[in-house]
Amino acid sequence: MVLAPRCYTAGMFTNAPLAGAKPAQYAQLAEQARAMMHGESDRIANAANLSALVYHALPELNWAGFYFFDGTELVVGPFQGLPACIRIPLDKGVCGAAARTRTTQRIEDVHAFPGHIACDAASRSELVVPLVHEGVLVGVLDLDSPVPARFDVEDQEGIEEIARLYVEALG
Ligand code: SME
Repeated sequence: MVLAPRCYTAGMFTNAPLAGAKPAQYAQLAEQARAMMHGESDRIANAANLSALVYHALPELNWAGFYFFDGTELVVGPFQGLPACIRIPLDKGVCGAAARTRTTQRIEDVHAFPGHIACDAASRSELVVPLVHEGVLVGVLDLDSPVPARFDVEDQEGIEEIARLYVEALG
């Protein structure tokens, strides 16, 4: 992969297929994320590029993106996928649960989750990682899949590392 600092146009970022077992794949994805955010702390820019990176690198996703906490509720940020719910109160949905409890929510069957918010009717399973910077809730990183139980513990650990890199880049 050839990387030009701060410039990722079509010819400069090649989305090489991830190879090997899942932990190895996530290590490659983390390396791409790290390189992509190098020297950049803008939360919108990094969220936009990370959404695109994750959405195109991982199979069986129908949504990948960010919600940011505005002090009261979650507000949709950069994402890939169909248009989504704009605001999510912390007492609603999988995203609200992740933000409120500051713990990752890995939901095998979203229909069995009380209060799940169906932005895209195709979604069957979901992985939501809270983003906490220096003790302050920034938002969540949300992945949806049309496949039931799409996310296992290796996916959780891999996406938690991506989320950690995102928070680290905020400075
Ligand atoms: N399903 C989420 C809402 C966000 S969308 O999936 C993009 C939830 O229950 O919080």
